[in-house]
Amino acid sequence: MTEQKNYFPENFLWGGAVAANQCEGAYLEDGKGLSPVDILPDVHHGRWDALMKPKETLNQDYGFYPSHESIDFYHRYKEDIALMAEMGFKTFRTSICWARIFPNGDDKVPNEAGLKFYDDLFDECLKYGIEPLVTIQHFDTPLALMEKYNGWADRRLIDFYVNYAEVVYKRYKNKVKYWLTFNEINMILHIPFFGGGMDLTNVENKQQVKYQAAHHQLVASAKATKLGHEINPDFKIGCMLAAGSTYPNTCDPKDVWAALQADREGYFFIDVQARGYYPSYSKRFFRENQVELQIEAGDLEVLKENTVDFISFSYYSSRLASGQPKNEDQTAGNVFATLKNPYLDASEWGWQIDPLGLRVTMNTIYDRYQKPLFIVENGLGAKDVVEADGSINDDYRIAYHRDHVREMNEAIGDGVECLGYTTWGCIDLVSAGSGEMDKRYGFIYVDRDNEGKGTLQRSKKKSFDWYQKVIASNGQDIN
Ligand code: BG6
Repeated sequence: MTEQKNYFPENFLWGGAVAANQCEGAYLEDGKGLSPVDILPDVHHGRWDALMKPKETLNQDYGFYPSHESIDFYHRYKEDIALMAEMGFKTFRTSICWARIFPNGDDKVPNEAGLKFYDDLFDECLKYGIEPLVTIQHFDTPLALMEKYNGWADRRLIDFYVNYAEVVYKRYKNKVKYWLTFNEINMILHIPFFGGGMDLTNVENKQQVKYQAAHHQLVASAKATKLGHEINPDFKIGCMLAAGSTYPNTCDPKDVWAALQADREGYFFIDVQARGYYPSYSKRFFRENQVELQIEAGDLEVLKENTVDFISFSYYSSRLASGQPKNEDQTAGNVFATLKNPYLDASEWGWQIDPLGLRVTMNTIYDRYQKPLFIVENGLGAKDVVEADGSINDDYRIAYHRDHVREMNEAIGDGVECLGYTTWGCIDLVSAGSGEMDKRYGFIYVDRDNEGKGTLQRSKKKSFDWYQKVIASNGQDIN
């Protein structure tokens, strides 16, 4: 085998990522209000229906809610951060739960107990030299804001969010340098409840409401970027896209066009956040979809003047598009389905595995924006088997990450500037899409099953040692 040249810069931020709503548990502790995820059951009990009709869901009793205890990170974070430090993490991505700070989202005074929790968590990271990378909003608009305003459909959410951002920026300004304003901002189009705290069940022109809400988030993100830079000029504030380049199904120009259109659906957001203005193609899209954005005085200037410092994204797979009206051969992907690519293997959940697609995606995004990238999610959701001796031999996970790290290295060699790599779900957590524990991403195993049974005890998988070696060698030793 030929030796691969190592292109990782010396200060490359290796680490892992989680989100508050999928790991903390303690769902009503210390004054926390409800988050969207707290009213959802798992996929075997109607999670997707519930996600699409959240107001109906409020009146249901599903008996078991995976988020309520989750992996109890709220009480066990010290042990977990110690394990991450043992792996050699340079950074740890997590999110702040908005409803811990403002239980109703629009409260006048923040909840001190919630603020204190993140103080302690960030201190714990810094104790080991781990740089926190913090998402301000990860599928976590307080539930009360849906009930009162229908979430981001209402412009008032901008001020609530900016106020919340100001509170956390000021509180953690000497502890946190890297911030992401919204997780996977393009997901508001696909899962409006998670992405925007909205129920669109009875809305006639859903596109109108989704894009108006997107406008509110884009303005909020730009305002928060401005504010962050004022509070601490050293802050690095990024946007976050659910990425994965779309390939054309064939060289039929119709397929090529379909792929380009599909990619623009996501780039639409980053075009605004990274370039500072709505892309020209959006005008036609809005016109043909009866979308009329209510843009207030000053909005366009705020967008223009406050672009992001870097572009972060999640990458699980590439996607495939066809220009044919009907093409049934689909498979699951991150939230939305895609055509099956015959050249790719897939995970047990049908998500296709395409390491070279990461290199394609990195090059495409960098070519488009010329801003530093940060890969903040990448991983394999798989069922793990605990052997009689307690070991977990997750060679499939090692293979997945090895192949992606190899392609990331190549992309950096291509000239792409990349700040770091945080693997998704570095410790097992509740799946966002399915609510299952069985869909594990971690290097650290958590003893808990889909029904919420288990000791919650942590143990190291085989991939733990592998990742430790990768980090120690700065990506040189990936075998
Ligand atoms: C991303 C989200 O969409 O994908 C995460 O930012 C999520 O919150 C991850 O967990 C993996 O998806 P899933 O459905 O396997 O948990």
